[in-house]
Amino acid sequence: MYNAKITGLGFYVPDNIVSNDDLAKIMDTDDAWIQERTGIKQRHWIKDGSDETSASMGAKAAKIAIERAGLSKDEIDFIVFATLSPDFYFPGCGVQIQDMLDMQTVGALDVRNQCSGFVYALSTADQFIKTGMYKNILVIGSEYHSNGLDKTTRGRGVSVIFGDGAGACVLSRTEDNQKGILSSHLHSQGKYADKLIVESPSIKHWVPEILESDEEDISYFPYMDGTFVFKNAVVRFSEVMMEALTTNNIASTDIDLFIPHQANLRISQFIQHKFKLKDEQVYNNIMNYGNTTAASIIIALSEAWEKGMVKENDIVLLAAFGSGFTWGSVLIRW
Ligand code: UT7
Repeated sequence: MYNAKITGLGFYVPDNIVSNDDLAKIMDTDDAWIQERTGIKQRHWIKDGSDETSASMGAKAAKIAIERAGLSKDEIDFIVFATLSPDFYFPGCGVQIQDMLDMQTVGALDVRNQCSGFVYALSTADQFIKTGMYKNILVIGSEYHSNGLDKTTRGRGVSVIFGDGAGACVLSRTEDNQKGILSSHLHSQGKYADKLIVESPSIKHWVPEILESDEEDISYFPYMDGTFVFKNAVVRFSEVMMEALTTNNIASTDIDLFIPHQANLRISQFIQHKFKLKDEQVYNNIMNYGNTTAASIIIALSEAWEKGMVKENDIVLLAAFGSGFTWGSVLIRW
C-alpha cells in the first residue's frame, strides 16, 4: 500500500482586482457591509473581453505545480479537475488541460462538488495512488464565477462574495506511510440542493424555455439561502474536522495549519474559536480573493506554502462545506 503526498503546488488569479468600492458603483452595496458580513476586501475578476476561462487558469496553475514537483508533463498519469464553472456544458475541463498542456493521452476526470470540490478531488486522486494505479496525479480547482453573477442590486447577496482563480497540485506516490494524506472524509445531503444552486440551463429547464418565459427568468444566476447555508456550514465543518482528528487520534493542538474553504471569514473565525485554534494555526485569504469555490483551498494552501508556512512533518487539515450540500476534510502530514 502506497501513500500520496503533495509534491508541487501553485495558483493563478487574473490580474484584474475588483474592490468593494468598485462594486458599490454598480449595485447598492458598500465596503462596510461586505467586510463586516464576509471579511472580503477585494476579489479578482476576469476582465470582460478576455479569453481566460476556468480551464486556461487551471492550466496556468498546473504548470507551476508540475514544475515545482520537479516533473515533466509527460510524467503525469491522470488529471482530476474540480469546478462548478466549466468552460462547456460538456466536455469537462480535465480534457482541456490534457490538450492545453500537451500531455500524453492520460485519463481526465471532472469533479462536480462545488465548494467541497477540491477536497473531493484530492481524496479521489489519493485513492488512485493508494491502490498503486497511478504515480503522479494533477489535481486542479478552478472557477470563473464573474461572468455568471447577477451584478445588480438584485444579486448583491451572492455576487459580492465570489472571485475567480485557480490552484493546482501534484499528488505523488510515496512509500513512507507516515507522510502524505492520512485520511479523507466525504459527505453529502442532497435534500438541501436548492439552498445553493444554479438551476438552469439544465436538461429539465433548457435555454429556449428560459428565453420564451413570460416572467423574468433568472434561474441561471446562482441562488443562495445565505443564512441557512451559514448555519449548516458551521455545524458540518466542525463535524468533519472532528472526524479527521478522531480517525487519526490527534488533538486540535496538534494541527500546524488549518485551511478552511474560504466561504466567509466569519465561518472560519467561528470554527477557529470552537476548536480553540491560535491565529498562527489558521490560514485565511478570503480578504484578497473572495470565495473561489473549488479553487479556494488550493489557492490558500499554495499561498501559505509560498510564505513558508507549511513545513516538513507539519499536520495540515483541509475542510470544506458547500452546495449539494457536500462537505469533507483531508488530513495531511507534510
Ligand atoms: O461557499 C459555499 C458556502 N457558502 C457559505 O457558506 C455562505 C454562507 N452565508 C453567508 O456567508 C451569509 O449568509 C451572507 C454573507 C451571504 C449574507 O450575510 P447575512 O448576514 O446572512 O445577511 P442577509 O442575507 O441576512 O442580509 C441582511 C441584509 C438584508 O437586508 P434587510 O432585509 O435586512 O433589509 C439584505 O438585503 O443585508 C442586505 N444585503 C446587502 N446589503 C448590502 C444583502 N447583500 C448585501 C450587500 N450589500 N451585498
